[in-house]
Order: sequence, then structure tokens, then C-alpha cells
Amino acid sequence: MASPDQVIIFGASGDLTRRKLIPALARLDSDPRPPVGFSILGVSRSDKTDEQFRMELAGAIPADLRGAFDKLAPRVSYHRGDSSNPESVASLGAKLDLLPGGRGSGRLFYLSLKPDLFHATVSTLGAAGLLQAWELDEGWHRVVVEKPFGRDLDTARVLNRELHLILQEEQIYRIDHYLGKETVQNLLGFRFHNAIFEPLWNRHHVEMVQITVAETIGVEHGRGRYYDTTGALRDMLQNHILQVLALIAMEPPVSLDAEAIRNQKVEVLRALRHPDPDEARVSSIRARYGPGEINGQRVLGYSEEQGVAPNSETETFVALRAYIDNWRWSGVPFLLRHGKRMKERFTEVQVQFHTPPMQLFNRPPEMSDQEYRRLLRDGAVCQIRPNILTLRLQPEEAIRLSFGVKRPGGTMEMTPATMDFHYHDHFGQAPPDAYERLLADALLGDQTLFLRGDEIEASWRYADAVLASWQLPGAPPLRVYEAGGWGPEDAEHLFGECQGSWSRG
Ligand code: BG6
Repeated sequence: MASPDQVIIFGASGDLTRRKLIPALARLDSDPRPPVGFSILGVSRSDKTDEQFRMELAGAIPADLRGAFDKLAPRVSYHRGDSSNPESVASLGAKLDLLPGGRGSGRLFYLSLKPDLFHATVSTLGAAGLLQAWELDEGWHRVVVEKPFGRDLDTARVLNRELHLILQEEQIYRIDHYLGKETVQNLLGFRFHNAIFEPLWNRHHVEMVQITVAETIGVEHGRGRYYDTTGALRDMLQNHILQVLALIAMEPPVSLDAEAIRNQKVEVLRALRHPDPDEARVSSIRARYGPGEINGQRVLGYSEEQGVAPNSETETFVALRAYIDNWRWSGVPFLLRHGKRMKERFTEVQVQFHTPPMQLFNRPPEMSDQEYRRLLRDGAVCQIRPNILTLRLQPEEAIRLSFGVKRPGGTMEMTPATMDFHYHDHFGQAPPDAYERLLADALLGDQTLFLRGDEIEASWRYADAVLASWQLPGAPPLRVYEAGGWGPEDAEHLFGECQGSWSRG
């Protein structure tokens, strides 16, 4: 029988461990997709006993997982140590040998650490012989690397190179938790299982795609210092939004194999057009939130948040008009938007299909056919855009197709209608948490939902080009928007005349 796996969490005293990793592991343990079971060793620098560590975790576990955690708790232990210190890591190795499974077990090292410790930790683990080969007969060693993976192309490349000195690519699991979300995975299923959409999924039929990740949270709870060195483009657009974009725009893979899917995604990321200075001026908007009100509560402006530098130029909102220069998408604008402290929290993709070549309906009765056509042609009146496919990724997961129907009565008046699918109504349950899926996959050795080194580099190459364009003379200024609103007005200008407007959830 296979021996149990070991999950070793570096940064075990951190928020992610308590809020996400342990609940996800408790759920996995009670519904075991990885077939062999596992024990958990938390590692961090604070001094505590196994029992104190378990109590700390128990205090944060959601009520519905108490039973599952109680079952797991005897297999949870703690090691005080510094992940980049050789002596400390040697004693960690000795401890792992004593845990169930010992040397022969599969070992998943989870780096929930500050990014500047990723390389030092992996190299110390490597030197201690804990990462020897990526698949030994008697076990395996894999490393999960949390985000951020670099802060630009150069640092991401250096980190990839450093990790590759010690690990094979097959051992590296770079996390983007959006890929663990059920509805993000469903983008693949929806596109490649339903043949009816595929013939329409290209520049001939799609006028525009918009992707929004709007949040109501700001940088409260002491996050200001970190965020102020990062900003919206690096924090959300370079990773989560570009991953959603890649799934929406990729070519069909030949199989569901990790490499087949990741090969197609990276092609999209490589085909993103880098804005030249002229384009950058009109194709991107950046802003930060001022004070305002969210859900009836007054909130501070970004510059008043704790940890934010008084002269900060960091953006908390970014909107871009991007283009994918390939055969399928040439000329189709992809409008990408993310903001903190917006009116509502939602993540959504809208695929807007072309209007009919001629607008036959809804002419105001007092207007002649000829006049109506002239106004449409001149853009003085906008055509109705009846066909939009909305893929709602969170908070409520849904798919909606909108189309026009004739309003009952004596005139030929068309009015919007929708067909809706709601994940919860259909399946009677909420989708599982992203970390549960990602941890299960990492234990099973499936890299499909993790980022390959070249994907990260291609995303940074694009993000760097946008960031560089913001430094040029004539670059879009940093605007201020009211917290609890929909972001700066200017963001609407990214749409062409009569081309639509940003979704309001
Ligand atoms: C993280 C960002 O990666 O994703 C945060 O660093 C952001 O700033 C979070 O709030 C959003 O994740 P989710 O799953 O709540 O949409």
C-alpha cells in the first residue's frame, strides 16, 4: 500500500494557512481525492508547540469544518524554524523522516512565504537533500510557490532560473488561485464541450470582450504597505485577469493534458499587443480611490490608509483596451478592468457579439426610415446590441445569454430577454473552494491549473510594457475615483462610439 503524503507549509503562522490552506486540507481529508491521505507539518519562526499550533488553527476553522478538522488534527504538527537556514532545515528533514510515510512519502512543500524567501528556501531544501529528484520510486517532492512570482519580467526570469537550478519544471507548482475556481475551470468546459459557440468565437462574430474583477475591499487590515509597492496592475491584472483572458481566447487544446492546455494559453499571452506610446495614452486608465461610502459605511481614501506612502503614485484601479494579434482575434478589443473599493464585488466576462448588419427594428414612429438609417450611420443613434454572453465567475456563478424578442402588440418592437444558468440552482450546492482543488491537484501531480514558467514570463512581458508606457510623457495621469463608485469616468472612453459600456454587475 502507498504511504501517506506529507504537506509541509512554510509560513504556517500566516493568514493564508489559517484562512485557506488548513480549511481546504480538512475538506480534502474528509472527502479524499488524493487516495493515500496525508499529514501536515507547519513551519514558521514563532515558538509554539504542536498543541498550540492546532489550537490556533482550530480557532480559525469555519463551523462546518470542525468535525473534519478534529479528525485531521492528530496528523498536524509544528516545527519552529527558518526556512532559509541550513541547520534549521536539516532538523526539519529529520522530523519529516519520523512522520507517517517517512522518507518514502510524497512531499508537498508549500511556500506561503514572502517572495524574497522563495529562492533561499528552495536552495536550502535542495542542499539538505530534501528535493532530490522529482519522481523517485519511493516518493516525490513538489514545491508550491505562492504569488507574487516576481514583480516584473526580470525578477520572474531570475526566479525561474534559480528554481530550475534545483527543481525540474515538473516539480514546480506556481499558484494562481483563480485557476482553482470552479467557474474559471468551467470556461474551458463551456467553450470546448459546446460546439455551438465555437464557430462564433472569433473576430467575425465577436465585437468585443470585457473582463471585470471588481472588489469592494480596499487595502485595510495592514495590507497597505505591501500593496503600495504593487498596485492593481501587478496584483490582479498581470495574473488573475490575464489567466481568465487566456482561457477565453485560447485555441482548442488537443487534449486535457496539462502541457496541451498550457501551450495554448501561453500562445495567447505571447500574442498580446504591447502598447506603443501613442496607444498607451488612449488605451489605459489608472486611478486610486478617494474617500467614499461602501454598504452605508464611510471608508478612507487610499492615501489615508495605513502603510501607504504620503506621495504614493500607486493605482488601485486599472482599465485597459488590449488586443490579441493572432488570426482568431485580430482587431477585437479586449477590455480589462480591475478596481478596489468599487460599488460591488463581482468577476465577470462579457462576450459581445456583432450587431446585425442592418437595424430593422425599433425606429421611433415619428422618424422616417431614411432619417433613422442616416442617424445610425452617423453614430447619432446607437444600434441596440442584443447578443451578449455573460460568464459570471463570482460571487454568484452564472451564465447568461441575452437576445432580443418581439414585445407583444401591434408594432415590431424588439426588447431584451435572457436565458440564464445559475450554478447554485442547478447543482444545489456552492462550488468548492479554489485552494481545495489546487491542493488536491498538487498532491496528485496534475499541473494543469498551475502556471508554467513561460506563461508567467509572457504575462510579465505584457504587464511591463503597460507599466513602462505609464512612465512616458503624455501617459494617462493617475485619476481619483470615489470609493463605492464604478471607477473613474475616463474608463468609459476605452469603448468606441456606440460600442457599449462597462458592466455594472
Ligand atoms: C489576490 C490579491 O491575489 O486576490 C488581492 O492579492 C485580491 O488583492 C484577491 O483581493 C482577490 O481574490 P478573490 O478570490 O477574493 O477574488
